[in-house]
Amino acid sequence: MIKLLSRIVVGATALFLLLQLVPYGRNHNNPPVIQEPQWGSTQAQQIARQACYDCHSNETAWPWYTNIAPMSWLIQRDVEEGRIHLNFSEWGMGDHEDHDLGEAIREGEMPPRQYTLIHPEARLDAARREILLDGLPADIGSNQGESGTIDHHKPRQQMIESAAPFDWRAMNMVLGLV
Ligand code: HEC
Repeated sequence: MIKLLSRIVVGATALFLLLQLVPYGRNHNNPPVIQEPQWGSTQAQQIARQACYDCHSNETAWPWYTNIAPMSWLIQRDVEEGRIHLNFSEWGMGDHEDHDLGEAIREGEMPPRQYTLIHPEARLDAARREILLDGLPADIGSNQGESGTIDHHKPRQQMIESAAPFDWRAMNMVLGLV
Protein backbone atom coordinates (compact mmCIF):
# COMPACT_ATOMS: atom_id res chain seq x y z
CA MET A 1 0.00 0.00 0.00
CA ILE A 2 2.77 2.40 1.00
CA LYS A 3 4.64 1.41 -2.13
CA LEU A 4 1.65 2.11 -4.32
CA LEU A 5 1.07 5.47 -2.66
CA SER A 6 4.65 6.55 -3.09
CA ARG A 7 4.51 5.53 -6.75
CA ILE A 8 1.45 7.70 -7.20
CA VAL A 9 3.13 10.64 -5.51
CA VAL A 10 6.28 10.26 -7.59
CA GLY A 11 4.22 9.89 -10.77
CA ALA A 12 2.09 12.92 -10.01
CA THR A 13 5.15 15.00 -9.20
CA ALA A 14 6.86 13.96 -12.42
CA LEU A 15 3.75 14.80 -14.41
CA PHE A 16 3.48 18.19 -12.70
CA LEU A 17 7.11 18.96 -13.53
CA LEU A 18 6.60 17.86 -17.13
CA LEU A 19 3.63 20.20 -17.45
CA GLN A 20 5.92 23.09 -16.55
CA LEU A 21 7.86 22.45 -19.77
CA VAL A 22 4.89 23.27 -22.00
CA PRO A 23 5.77 26.67 -23.48
CA TYR A 24 2.18 27.96 -23.56
CA GLY A 25 1.04 30.22 -20.72
CA ARG A 26 4.10 32.33 -20.05
CA ASN A 27 3.51 35.19 -22.43
CA HIS A 28 2.59 37.66 -19.71
CA ASN A 29 2.67 40.81 -21.71
CA ASN A 30 0.84 44.02 -20.92
CA PRO A 31 0.72 46.06 -24.13
CA PRO A 32 0.51 49.85 -23.76
CA VAL A 33 -2.77 51.44 -22.67
CA ILE A 34 -3.90 53.31 -25.77
CA GLN A 35 -7.30 54.67 -24.92
CA GLU A 36 -9.60 54.16 -21.94
CA PRO A 37 -13.36 54.72 -22.04
CA GLN A 38 -15.11 57.55 -20.22
CA TRP A 39 -16.75 55.93 -17.22
CA GLY A 40 -19.98 57.41 -15.90
CA SER A 41 -18.62 57.52 -12.35
CA THR A 42 -15.37 56.93 -10.50
CA GLN A 43 -16.98 54.14 -8.48
CA ALA A 44 -18.02 52.34 -11.66
CA GLN A 45 -14.50 52.63 -12.98
CA GLN A 46 -13.13 51.31 -9.71
CA ILE A 47 -15.44 48.31 -9.74
CA ALA A 48 -14.57 47.56 -13.36
CA ARG A 49 -10.88 47.73 -12.45
CA GLN A 50 -11.41 45.22 -9.66
CA ALA A 51 -13.79 42.92 -11.51
CA CYS A 52 -12.86 43.09 -15.19
CA TYR A 53 -9.43 44.59 -15.88
CA ASP A 54 -7.38 41.44 -15.29
CA CYS A 55 -8.90 39.95 -18.45
CA HIS A 56 -10.27 42.95 -20.33
CA SER A 57 -7.44 45.45 -20.29
CA ASN A 58 -3.72 45.73 -20.91
CA GLU A 59 -3.17 46.18 -17.17
CA THR A 60 -3.40 42.53 -16.16
CA ALA A 61 -1.92 41.61 -12.80
CA TRP A 62 0.31 38.55 -13.15
CA PRO A 63 0.86 37.09 -9.65
CA TRP A 64 3.29 34.17 -9.11
CA TYR A 65 0.72 31.42 -9.66
CA THR A 66 0.07 32.65 -13.20
CA ASN A 67 3.45 31.03 -14.00
CA ILE A 68 2.46 27.57 -12.83
CA ALA A 69 0.93 25.05 -15.23
CA PRO A 70 -1.82 24.03 -15.63
CA MET A 71 -3.24 27.22 -14.01
CA SER A 72 -1.06 29.36 -16.25
CA TRP A 73 -2.72 27.85 -19.35
CA LEU A 74 -6.22 28.73 -18.18
CA ILE A 75 -5.22 32.24 -17.16
CA GLN A 76 -3.33 32.92 -20.39
CA ARG A 77 -6.31 31.77 -22.40
CA ASP A 78 -8.75 33.88 -20.36
CA VAL A 79 -6.67 37.01 -20.79
CA GLU A 80 -6.04 36.50 -24.50
CA GLU A 81 -9.67 35.73 -25.25
CA GLY A 82 -10.95 38.34 -22.84
CA ARG A 83 -8.90 41.07 -24.51
CA ILE A 84 -10.16 40.04 -27.94
CA HIS A 85 -13.79 40.35 -26.85
CA LEU A 86 -13.44 43.54 -24.88
CA ASN A 87 -10.42 45.68 -24.06
CA PHE A 88 -10.82 48.75 -21.85
CA SER A 89 -7.26 49.79 -22.75
CA GLU A 90 -7.93 49.88 -26.48
CA TRP A 91 -11.33 51.50 -26.39
CA GLY A 92 -12.92 52.19 -29.77
CA MET A 93 -10.19 50.42 -31.72
CA GLY A 94 -11.70 47.26 -33.09
CA ASP A 95 -14.66 45.01 -33.46
CA HIS A 96 -14.96 44.14 -29.81
CA GLU A 97 -18.27 42.71 -28.77
CA ASP A 98 -18.74 45.40 -26.20
CA HIS A 99 -22.46 45.80 -26.92
CA ASP A 100 -23.03 42.75 -24.71
CA LEU A 101 -21.43 44.43 -21.72
CA GLY A 102 -24.58 45.24 -19.75
CA GLU A 103 -26.08 41.86 -20.48
CA ALA A 104 -22.95 39.98 -19.38
CA ILE A 105 -22.98 41.87 -16.08
CA ARG A 106 -26.72 41.70 -15.47
CA GLU A 107 -26.89 37.99 -16.07
CA GLY A 108 -23.97 37.35 -13.74
CA GLU A 109 -21.97 35.85 -16.61
CA MET A 110 -19.06 38.19 -15.92
CA PRO A 111 -16.76 38.13 -14.04
CA PRO A 112 -16.46 34.34 -14.52
CA ARG A 113 -16.94 32.14 -11.49
CA GLN A 114 -13.55 30.44 -11.59
CA TYR A 115 -12.10 33.93 -11.23
CA THR A 116 -14.24 35.22 -8.37
CA LEU A 117 -13.48 32.03 -6.43
CA ILE A 118 -9.92 33.23 -5.93
CA HIS A 119 -10.64 36.96 -6.29
CA PRO A 120 -13.38 37.79 -3.77
CA GLU A 121 -12.77 41.51 -4.36
CA ALA A 122 -14.07 41.01 -7.90
CA ARG A 123 -17.46 39.69 -6.80
CA LEU A 124 -20.44 41.83 -7.73
CA ASP A 125 -23.24 41.98 -5.21
CA ALA A 126 -26.48 43.66 -6.24
CA ALA A 127 -25.31 47.13 -5.13
CA ARG A 128 -21.96 47.00 -6.91
CA ARG A 129 -23.59 45.56 -10.00
CA GLU A 130 -26.02 48.51 -10.14
CA ILE A 131 -23.22 51.06 -9.74
CA LEU A 132 -21.25 49.41 -12.52
CA LEU A 133 -24.28 49.19 -14.82
CA ASP A 134 -25.18 52.84 -14.16
CA GLY A 135 -21.66 54.02 -14.86
CA LEU A 136 -20.88 52.04 -18.01
CA PRO A 137 -19.22 54.08 -20.77
CA ALA A 138 -21.85 55.86 -22.84
CA ASP A 139 -20.24 54.98 -26.18
CA ILE A 140 -20.60 51.20 -25.92
CA GLY A 141 -21.03 49.69 -29.36
CA SER A 142 -21.04 53.07 -31.11
CA ASN A 143 -17.70 52.54 -32.80
CA GLN A 144 -18.22 49.18 -34.40
CA GLY A 145 -17.07 48.63 -37.96
CA GLU A 146 -15.67 52.11 -38.58
CA SER A 147 -13.08 52.34 -41.30
CA GLY A 148 -9.53 52.72 -40.10
CA THR A 149 -10.02 50.72 -36.93
CA ILE A 150 -7.56 47.98 -36.16
CA ASP A 151 -9.00 44.54 -36.79
CA HIS A 152 -6.84 42.25 -34.71
CA HIS A 153 -9.71 39.90 -33.99
CA LYS A 154 -9.08 37.21 -36.58
CA PRO A 155 -5.31 36.81 -36.53
CA ARG A 156 -5.22 36.65 -32.75
CA GLN A 157 -8.14 34.27 -32.61
CA GLN A 158 -6.36 31.94 -35.02
CA MET A 159 -3.17 32.29 -33.05
CA ILE A 160 -4.92 31.26 -29.86
CA GLU A 161 -6.65 28.33 -31.45
CA SER A 162 -3.41 26.98 -32.85
CA ALA A 163 -1.52 27.65 -29.62
CA ALA A 164 -4.04 26.00 -27.34
CA PRO A 165 -2.91 22.50 -26.42
CA PHE A 166 -6.46 21.25 -26.05
CA ASP A 167 -10.09 22.25 -26.14
CA TRP A 168 -10.49 25.20 -23.79
CA ARG A 169 -14.25 25.34 -24.19
CA ALA A 170 -14.54 21.79 -22.85
CA MET A 171 -12.14 22.71 -20.05
CA ASN A 172 -14.24 25.73 -19.17
CA MET A 173 -17.36 23.64 -19.04
CA VAL A 174 -15.65 21.28 -16.63
CA LEU A 175 -14.48 24.23 -14.53
CA GLY A 176 -17.97 25.66 -14.62
CA LEU A 177 -19.29 22.48 -13.04
CA VAL A 178 -16.83 22.54 -10.17
C1 HEC B 1 -11.07 35.78 -15.60
C2 HEC B 1 -11.13 36.63 -16.76
C3 HEC B 1 -12.30 37.52 -16.99
C4 HEC B 1 -12.81 38.48 -16.14
C5 HEC B 1 -12.30 38.87 -14.76
C6 HEC B 1 -13.90 39.10 -16.84
N1 HEC B 1 -14.05 38.52 -18.06
FE1 HEC B 1 -15.36 39.05 -19.52
N2 HEC B 1 -14.68 37.58 -20.73
C7 HEC B 1 -13.65 36.73 -20.43
C8 HEC B 1 -13.46 35.79 -21.54
C9 HEC B 1 -12.42 34.69 -21.58
C10 HEC B 1 -14.42 36.12 -22.50
C11 HEC B 1 -14.65 35.46 -23.86
C12 HEC B 1 -15.24 34.12 -23.74
C13 HEC B 1 -16.62 34.13 -23.16
O1 HEC B 1 -17.50 34.82 -23.69
O2 HEC B 1 -16.81 33.44 -22.14
C14 HEC B 1 -15.17 37.25 -21.97
C15 HEC B 1 -16.21 37.85 -22.64
C16 HEC B 1 -16.81 39.00 -22.19
C17 HEC B 1 -17.81 39.72 -22.96
C18 HEC B 1 -18.35 39.31 -24.32
C19 HEC B 1 -19.52 38.40 -24.03
C20 HEC B 1 -20.05 37.71 -25.20
O3 HEC B 1 -21.12 37.10 -25.02
O4 HEC B 1 -19.43 37.72 -26.26
C21 HEC B 1 -18.20 40.78 -22.20
C22 HEC B 1 -19.21 41.84 -22.59
C23 HEC B 1 -17.45 40.72 -20.97
N3 HEC B 1 -16.63 39.62 -21.00
C24 HEC B 1 -17.58 41.61 -19.94
C25 HEC B 1 -16.92 41.52 -18.73
C26 HEC B 1 -17.11 42.44 -17.64
C27 HEC B 1 -18.02 43.64 -17.68
C28 HEC B 1 -16.31 42.02 -16.62
C29 HEC B 1 -16.22 42.61 -15.25
C30 HEC B 1 -17.44 42.82 -14.54
C31 HEC B 1 -15.60 40.84 -17.07
N4 HEC B 1 -16.01 40.56 -18.35
C32 HEC B 1 -14.68 40.12 -16.33
C33 HEC B 1 -12.89 36.74 -19.29
C34 HEC B 1 -13.10 37.56 -18.20
